[in-house]
Amino acid sequence: MRAAVYVEQDQPLVVEELDAVEPGPRDVVVQIAASGVCHSDLSVTNGTLPIPPPCILGHEGAGIVDWVGSEVSHLVPGDRVIATFVPACGSCWYCIHDKSNLCEGTAETAMLPRAKRPNGSTAVGFAGLGTFSDVMTVRESQAVKVDTELPAEQLALIGCGVTTGVGAALNTAQVEPGSTVAVIGCGGVGQAVIQGARIAGAARIIAIDPVDLKRKTAEQQGATDLIDPSAGDPVSQVQELTGGRGADYAFEVIGRPETIVQAFATARRGGTAVVVGMPRIDSEVTLPGFGMFYDEKKLLGCVYGSAQVRRDFPRFISLAETGRLDLGAMVSRRIKLDEVNDAFRAMEAGEVIRSVIV
Ligand code: APR
Ligand code: ZN
Ligand code: ZN
Repeated sequence: MRAAVYVEQDQPLVVEELDAVEPGPRDVVVQIAASGVCHSDLSVTNGTLPIPPPCILGHEGAGIVDWVGSEVSHLVPGDRVIATFVPACGSCWYCIHDKSNLCEGTAETAMLPRAKRPNGSTAVGFAGLGTFSDVMTVRESQAVKVDTELPAEQLALIGCGVTTGVGAALNTAQVEPGSTVAVIGCGGVGQAVIQGARIAGAARIIAIDPVDLKRKTAEQQGATDLIDPSAGDPVSQVQELTGGRGADYAFEVIGRPETIVQAFATARRGGTAVVVGMPRIDSEVTLPGFGMFYDEKKLLGCVYGSAQVRRDFPRFISLAETGRLDLGAMVSRRIKLDEVNDAFRAMEAGEVIRSVIV
């Protein structure tokens, strides 16, 4: 197998030939057809999410099942699947309480040795996956069968960005028709929040991002108002647009304490702020104590769009098949595995919504 491996913090990924570890009875082997490059992969390389190397990165992918272990009951070779970076084991406390995005199997699958490197060390797959590869071995709980003709590059995005963003609007916040939504950070995930808010029937969607391309794309995806935060305080700009009240829902989709504070300030009294971005593991957020009480705001965390993947992947596929969810517009660039480090550069430079390895 050929894969892109994280070997050292702040260093480029190494694309190399590895030997796959023998799969176990609960594993499936997936031929990867497409993999999106998400900010969380970059966050591993820069220490925002400290994961010990070596680790095959990539957690947003789709492909075809090639082999199944003897205890696998839901998948057969030939099935089309989307990888889920949180397992949905179906039997832990969270899974049986309809909260599979918090599945207790996460830590175990993330630690499984998956491939031997040329230097003899053993690599895990990021979040139990490792989609920056031509093939990956995952637990059955991390592959969701889908039945659709949509292109693989679009299905891959459902594996993380789309589900996280659309799910944040539909599942976590449960945006109501006619409401006003502010989205701080309009990268791949933020664009999906905007689409989720549009699908939910939001009347007004305020997109906040310093990069022109992101604001333009946001407008195409349904944003009604665009704010450049580098041209003045975004909180007061949202207040101006909303009669001084603030937004019914404010989503933070970057993962920084200062923009989480902005999202909280942007929500109206009684409104909801949602933390969709992944902050550094050691970061802390300071919020106004009196305001937390007096303004009666809700602050919601959001992992994987509160998605129940076996329910929501097919739901998002239906929305895409009927043209209500635009996945094509999110694919900015198709690249080869060897270009993955340049995809990180393009992400940081604000040149793309998503690069997809095909
Ligand atoms: N205000 C508004 N937007 C900002 C600001 C700011 N101060 N600073 C950066 N941004 C924008 C960037 O211009 C970019 O468009 O935030 C966006 C981040 O997008 P991406 O880098 O494409 O990241 P994405 O893959 O969308 O992930 C966003 O969600 O899943 C998590 O780990 C991921 O924390 C990350 C977040
Ligand atoms: Zn991701
Ligand atoms: Zn579970």
